[in-house]
Amino acid sequence: MNWSVATYDSAFGYVSAHGAPLIDLLDPQPGERVIDLGCGAGLLTAELNARGADPLGIDGNPLLIAQATVNFPELSFALGDAHDFTVSDPYDAVISMSALHWMARDPDAVIAQVYSALRPGGRFVAEMGGAGNCAELIAAMQTAWREFGLTEPELPWYFPTPAGYAARLEEAGFTVRILEYFDRPTRMTEGPGGAADWVRVFAAEPLREVPAELAPALLARVNDLAAPALRRESGWVADYVRLRFAAVRKAGGAPPQGGPVPALGPL
Ligand SMILES: C[S@@+](CC[C@H](N)C(=O)[O-])C[C@H]1O[C@@H](n2cnc3c(N)ncnc32)[C@H](O)[C@@H]1O
Repeated sequence: MNWSVATYDSAFGYVSAHGAPLIDLLDPQPGERVIDLGCGAGLLTAELNARGADPLGIDGNPLLIAQATVNFPELSFALGDAHDFTVSDPYDAVISMSALHWMARDPDAVIAQVYSALRPGGRFVAEMGGAGNCAELIAAMQTAWREFGLTEPELPWYFPTPAGYAARLEEAGFTVRILEYFDRPTRMTEGPGGAADWVRVFAAEPLREVPAELAPALLARVNDLAAPALRRESGWVADYVRLRFAAVRKAGGAPPQGGPVPALGPL
């Protein structure tokens, strides 16, 4: 993925605007070392710092890390892929806002890296797209692609069910303390072009595969198809569905990998 820094940071700033409840859930304590995984342009990282934590922002996009460094030169940022980043000293917490669903290549590898980066008892707090996220937007996109005789776009996201993601966390050695799954219809106040703007920003890769001369008509058709569900008198609303959770790394070494099961004693 290679978002335009300017487009992402300004037009879709609502991604960061929704971060406050997640920081409340983390409840960072003064001086706690916190990784902001998939930090983007660093807005949530800065908010962590304002709340007294000692944050490190990690992101896989060099342009966004460069922008974060310009935005907040006093803070620490590092380029890294969530699937294989390492840290020299364990952290107290990892937070991730609207980023885990982009780390779709191997969700278990990402969870395992978070586990390794945390001290025993460390918290993993995140919000991501859940099953059904942007279903109307995606359906409009797929239908338009089909109608234009294009190969259906390969979607870059992973939107898990709550049960599925909780099972992955538990399997990896976390205790899930809170897991919420909720609709969050989100006004696209700064994306007035509606579903078409959403495709331009969040589905830029599939759009790049489209012949340039087809793109305007294709995007207009995405808008026509999505409008009945998502366009209100007051403007466009994206059909977001979120998964928000807080999990704690269990004490002890590596998580159980199967193997012999001890016989049950008396109850
Ligand atoms: C929607 S943005 C959210 C940014 C930020 N957390 C916020 O709330 O504004 C998703 C971020 O995840 C990053 N990302 C996606 N895949 C990644 C990966 N495999 N490793 C690290 N960062 C990744 C992207 O570069 C992007 O900055």
